Amino acid sequence: MSFHIKNNVHWVGKIDWELRKFHGDEYSTHKGSSYNSYLIEEEKVALIDTVWTPFANEYVENLKQHIDLEKIDYVIACHAENDHSGALPELMRHIPDVPIYCTKNGIKSLQGLYHQDWNFQVVKTGDKLSLGSKDLIFVEAPMLHWPDSMFVYLTGDEILFSNDGFGQHYASEHMFNDLVDQNELMAECIKYYANILTPFSPMVTKKINEVLGFNLPLDMICTSHGIIWRDNPAQIVEHYLKWADSYQENQVTLLYDTMWDSTRIMAEQIAAGIREADSTVTVKLYNLAKTDKNDVITEVFKSKAILVGSPTVNNGILVAVAGLIEEIKGLKFKNKKAAAFGSYGWSGEAAKIISERLVDSGFEVVDEGLRLTWAPDEESKKRCKEYGHAFVRKL
Ligand code: FEO
Repeated sequence: MSFHIKNNVHWVGKIDWELRKFHGDEYSTHKGSSYNSYLIEEEKVALIDTVWTPFANEYVENLKQHIDLEKIDYVIACHAENDHSGALPELMRHIPDVPIYCTKNGIKSLQGLYHQDWNFQVVKTGDKLSLGSKDLIFVEAPMLHWPDSMFVYLTGDEILFSNDGFGQHYASEHMFNDLVDQNELMAECIKYYANILTPFSPMVTKKINEVLGFNLPLDMICTSHGIIWRDNPAQIVEHYLKWADSYQENQVTLLYDTMWDSTRIMAEQIAAGIREADSTVTVKLYNLAKTDKNDVITEVFKSKAILVGSPTVNNGILVAVAGLIEEIKGLKFKNKKAAAFGSYGWSGEAAKIISERLVDSGFEVVDEGLRLTWAPDEESKKRCKEYGHAFVRKL
């Protein structure tokens, strides 16, 4: 299977409708994904990226339907992660001498993964590779999101091959952004940014401004996952600039786990208090033990503040809460406020532990949090609502 993209450019990747977990079990892919590989057949023929390892044989067989592999002059490896390089060993078994163009770090990563001495050619920002009447121009993009990552621009067709950048885990048979459900598409884009790119936001801003500074005309952005941006491709660039700039919406999210419902009742009463105090704010609640963590992280990304709750168990906090805080620590969220809450029977350390970990994770903790004993009675529920009122005043 292949899709015509523009002139002599074809998509020759793999749409993975079955994928439900990515990066091992780290990232939920409710709508599948795709591993996009592109074949450019000018006077010289270049293949950009491959697909994930389980599809290596299928990929090479499919590629053979489209082109005699001996006609491939250059392989471009924009990023060594397995989902794009996984078919390289099978491909290179057929064309062992064809040069692989990648960054210096790309060689390290590819050799580390596959232990092969392929014909690597190092490229850096500004280097050009002639395909005849058109050129490929390389742009290194270190830490977006691996040290080896790079973009490639095709002159003449004005296509930016952005690898992971601007992608989404979103399977579609329609390939182009104007042909898919826009709400689904943007939901997957923001989830992808929140969960994968947030820690690299300063580099996102810098790299986008650097590429914009080249003043290259842009007709399409061909990503390595999901759809291709052909209708107003600048729109996703604008979203990235916004998301990279300490993004927040007028939203407060309550995240908790509960054993016998007391902490859940606290969450609901605090939420009611927030709504009473500010009817314009979007308030959302998630039980962390029951909710997909990547969806929760997306909601944290959208929030201006979060409240995190756990009962006290063995002088500590519940594992679903501890796990989520560990995740968000690594994501380095900026410009977000937070506080803790929780019910307890006797020792009651949870709120303090959560507060400390939130500070450690870069959140501005606005107060000592709310601790209540046993099951909330009417007086305790009133305290929760009042706490919600007070929390809004601190945002
Ligand atoms: Fe899609 Fe970083 O691999």
